[in-house]
Amino acid sequence: MCGIVGAVAARDVTPILVEGLRRLEYRGYDSAGVALLTQSGQLDRRRAQGKVQQLADGIAQQPISGLRGIAHTRWATHGVPSERNAHPHFSEDQVALVHNGIIENHDELRSELRAKGYHFTSETDTEVVVHLVNECLKQSGSLLAAMQTAVKRLHGAYAIVAVAARDPDCVVAARMGCPVVVGHGDNENYVASDVQALLPVTRRFQFLEEGDVAEVRQSGIRIFDASGKPAERALRESTLSADSVERGEYAHYMLKEIYEQPRAIADTLAERITGKSVLEAAMGPKAQAILPRVRNVHIVACGTSYHAGLIARYYVEQGAKLPCTVEVASEYRYRDPVVPADTLFVAISQSGETADTLAALREARKLGYLATCAICNVPESSLVREADLTLMTRAGPEIGVASTKAFTTQLAALSLLGIVLARHNGMDAMTEAAFVKQIAHVPEIVEHTLKLEPQIKEWAKHFADKRHALFLGRGPTYPVALEGALKLKEISYIHAEAYPAGELKHGPLALVDADMPVIAVAPNNALLEKLKSNLQEVRARGGQLFVFADPNTGFKAEDGVEVMLMPEHIEAIQSPLVYTVPLQLLAYHVAVLRGTDVDQPRNLAKSVTVE
Ligand code: G6P
Repeated sequence: MCGIVGAVAARDVTPILVEGLRRLEYRGYDSAGVALLTQSGQLDRRRAQGKVQQLADGIAQQPISGLRGIAHTRWATHGVPSERNAHPHFSEDQVALVHNGIIENHDELRSELRAKGYHFTSETDTEVVVHLVNECLKQSGSLLAAMQTAVKRLHGAYAIVAVAARDPDCVVAARMGCPVVVGHGDNENYVASDVQALLPVTRRFQFLEEGDVAEVRQSGIRIFDASGKPAERALRESTLSADSVERGEYAHYMLKEIYEQPRAIADTLAERITGKSVLEAAMGPKAQAILPRVRNVHIVACGTSYHAGLIARYYVEQGAKLPCTVEVASEYRYRDPVVPADTLFVAISQSGETADTLAALREARKLGYLATCAICNVPESSLVREADLTLMTRAGPEIGVASTKAFTTQLAALSLLGIVLARHNGMDAMTEAAFVKQIAHVPEIVEHTLKLEPQIKEWAKHFADKRHALFLGRGPTYPVALEGALKLKEISYIHAEAYPAGELKHGPLALVDADMPVIAVAPNNALLEKLKSNLQEVRARGGQLFVFADPNTGFKAEDGVEVMLMPEHIEAIQSPLVYTVPLQLLAYHVAVLRGTDVDQPRNLAKSVTVE
């Protein structure tokens, strides 16, 4: 969701803040703002509806500067995207504050603060927090103490950063449910919602824990836990380079990230497989004690990560012969699930901060699971910290809102989990060695698949003027079709749906005509003949077919049927990873033709830290 940056220095911090916002923009981008404590001790701000560039243009026209400052890029929850609702919010020109998350008891606090004479100018829940901090500051005189008192009154999830004219030498941050990191520089210090914001100025970070409050001064940073006691948080050196979030020669981050997949998948497999087997120690020191005992698997995730879970079910059930359920986290967390003995709970999340997935994990920890396992791309995330076992994907930072390399690396990681569970459930060493060899070969096949881009670009022309599209798959490629449809709708705004092909005649066939392109994912597996019959049903109704198929499947291009052949010899375990790639490229090129904002599609955000 929203992005936050703050800095305290002996120089003007505005450039640090604006660059930080640019680097966080993918998290939310409907409005942005900065507030600075000017050299004369006044709070000043600039805010703009729209993207960070609009804010930067505003600052160029009407400069602002200061040695302490905070900044925010917003994804609207309470109140429409507008300059009035953009952060930072002010209280009586004494406190400026930015916030990521949702304050659930904002109504009650607003009434209380109104009665005390505070004037509200926005529709946001954030504004109650800034007035509350100001009210507490009037009692204590210290921004740190004011924040510590104020957060005790808040219900909900938040990352908050504030600066105050009355206590001008610091910026203070608080964390509950949304990530906050503090950064140590040379004679200057920083705070942000994500390390990426600060990589141009520092590599040295501390991650706040739930309930922590941090006071950032030029001379140093102090962190206190929820009880107000000084807290030690490990100082970590980030290995990310500042340009790991640069676009390079690519027109969009999404395209760059699609092309990074062979490397990202290879990195995810590296050191976790030998020539013959999977090293379960990759899942943490407890893995060897826990995984042999697993008799059931429950997988929970959101969005694209949920689709990875649907594919993982095939790895667990068909591969490991263990029962497996998969559910979206927002449903699971309120469902009172029945947990059979010796069930492993698996949460999949690129960010490790998705509110529903995190809440599901926390719920699961109370429900008597054998253990919890996180498949995640961010080592410092809450999900990773709170799970018993972790298997990190090594996709590197993913900036495009539409997830690509995070998804295929999740599949790579989940295939390893499936193989380990299968081994413990009796799979012989030869079969394991065969699977390991197949999965190790995926980066090379994906590399070949990327060569289809020029043809896919041609296909995209058939979709650019369409309003709807239907994706079909069967078995493990049904979730691949779901992911293809999600990609297309997210970035091109074409309404796209995916169906298991066998379900076509139970409804969606009624929609099929020459204006509804139908995309089929057709690997050569046991369901191929069934899929072919389903596709005949589409042709018979005049539907235009676009088939991605294995070379030996017998599909031929003819009137109304376009066929794109995938690389040769794709094995079942490889197939979901490989077939995902052309669907990503198709969505990308359709979106480019339609002129939409590929990396930052309307209304969406990369990391959804609210419920
Ligand atoms: C948002 C993103 C999606 C992502 C989903 C789950 O909706 O736009 O790309 O799949 O959140 O995110 P997670 O970080 O938990 O994988």
